Amino acid sequence: IIEEKIESLIAMMSVDEMIGQMTQVRHFDDISGDDVRTKFIGSVIHTQGPVPGQHASEWQAKFFELQKQALSTRLGIPLLFGVDAIHGQNTFEGATIFPHNIGLGATANPDLVRQIAEITALEAQATGFNWVFSPCVAIPYNEKWGRVYEAFSESTEITVELTRASVRGHQGSLKKSKNVLATAKHFIGDGATDFGVEGGNTSLSMNEVRERLLPPYQAAVEEGVGAVMASFNQLDGLSMHAHKKLITDILKGELKFDGIMVSDWKGYSRFGETDIINAGIDMVMAVDGDLDGFQNGLKEALASGVVALERVKDAVRRILRQKFRLSLFENPFPDKKQTKKIGIKAHREVARQAVRESLVLLKNRENILPLGKDAKIVVVGEFADNSGLQSGGWTVNWQGTKENYKGATTILEGFRKISKVEVAYDRDGSENHEADVAVVVVGETPYAEFFGDIGGEMNAYRLTLTEAHRQLINNYVQKGIKVITILISGRPLVVTSEIAHSDAFVVAWLPGSEGDGIAEVLYGEHDFKGKLPHSWPKSEDDYAGKYGPNFWGNAIQPLFPIGFGLKYAGNK
Ligand code: IFM
Repeated sequence: IIEEKIESLIAMMSVDEMIGQMTQVRHFDDISGDDVRTKFIGSVIHTQGPVPGQHASEWQAKFFELQKQALSTRLGIPLLFGVDAIHGQNTFEGATIFPHNIGLGATANPDLVRQIAEITALEAQATGFNWVFSPCVAIPYNEKWGRVYEAFSESTEITVELTRASVRGHQGSLKKSKNVLATAKHFIGDGATDFGVEGGNTSLSMNEVRERLLPPYQAAVEEGVGAVMASFNQLDGLSMHAHKKLITDILKGELKFDGIMVSDWKGYSRFGETDIINAGIDMVMAVDGDLDGFQNGLKEALASGVVALERVKDAVRRILRQKFRLSLFENPFPDKKQTKKIGIKAHREVARQAVRESLVLLKNRENILPLGKDAKIVVVGEFADNSGLQSGGWTVNWQGTKENYKGATTILEGFRKISKVEVAYDRDGSENHEADVAVVVVGETPYAEFFGDIGGEMNAYRLTLTEAHRQLINNYVQKGIKVITILISGRPLVVTSEIAHSDAFVVAWLPGSEGDGIAEVLYGEHDFKGKLPHSWPKSEDDYAGKYGPNFWGNAIQPLFPIGFGLKYAGNK
């Protein structure tokens, strides 16, 4: 029935109306209701930074206005509202923010990932969105890639399982107002570029692409994923945005993907609008400033035959199909009743469980862990008391935040909740506290999309901690105080000597808003469950080649293999 409805709509559509559907415009404030109405816009994206206004109802009101304009057009086709809700509805302060995907990879728990996606969908809907650009299903080959934390694991098998769970959780039946469209991204080879360069060249053979990178997409398609996003990398020199063989022949043809192939940010201006549409891109992301230029260009390309009308119809068919599947024609407006569910206790409990299950214990000399609740401890380092630093990129803002944000709890707060005695705090390592144990929290400052940014050095290529963070550990070692190190990072780092100096070493990834999940495990209220989702490097020399210590053609032994993780009970 949906297919019939699509065909009858398409039969009525003008070229302008079709091109409009293929256009996704940026932000609320860049476009007016008039643009939506007169340019027949198909979708709006919100990404960097919070929408002004503290309340979900204010967000909803903005969508409401734009949606009303879309519905007032001749054919009344509703808008899709897209957002990068990649670890919860992370652009809204007060939403539940989950561990980034690498932490979920450490849980390897599909049921948990499904629940997280359900909650994300609900909180995204509650702020007015019906489409999320998640999950990232990349297989990272090199930890220098600045998006390693957005991917579940270097293991294709783990990624396949968690991708299924994520798509299922986000989309559910797609009929209820709490479901959203999911997007598997970035197609394909984003995490497997030579030397981990974002948007670089992926020099894998087609066989390896099929064997290692394609299965998560196949799983997503089998689960009915609504969208796939094209990647900025090239595959053997050909830009993925223009890769007709992979997009049209393989993804849409062989795998039978019938959803929306969306470009990445302004992909049309980087790779040429006609080339990407001819390759199989259906919707063009973030057309701003240049709206007329884009739409007129495509119109001319249609008139001159550079782009075939059938290609445009195919794109529009796919976009309308998802709008029908979401029941947007019947329910175009966000559900006001959902707003009171944003960041509720039940959601935060799932996030805390995810934090607990994601922690990986790499070392526990003389069973220093679990801590006794009456142990005299000092918690050390600014990362211990800053929910922004503990959450990584794509938190509140695109590049993350270095400040505490609404509704979150910090790691230190977690220790103070559980300890029966006073917990001291030494923010910069300069204080002297009488303590039996120091819990030192070190890590990477938040970054998004580029190379890792440690200590504020963008594109640093470094996989090591700053000297200041090393000192935090060493100061306490030198004082003869036992040290438990907690590492906050979006990927494995080269911390061989820090591990050697510490009595216990815990990898906490980027836990998100529920920092108190960490203390619950360190005090032994729960056992460690997490297993490394990546092999762990020994030294920077491990990265002399194109890939990290984990991949074919790179025979270097990692410090810890994928799957490693100690437990309190029945370890070994
Ligand atoms: O969804 C993201 C993508 O992962 C990277 N470029 C921008 C998109 C929209 O914000």
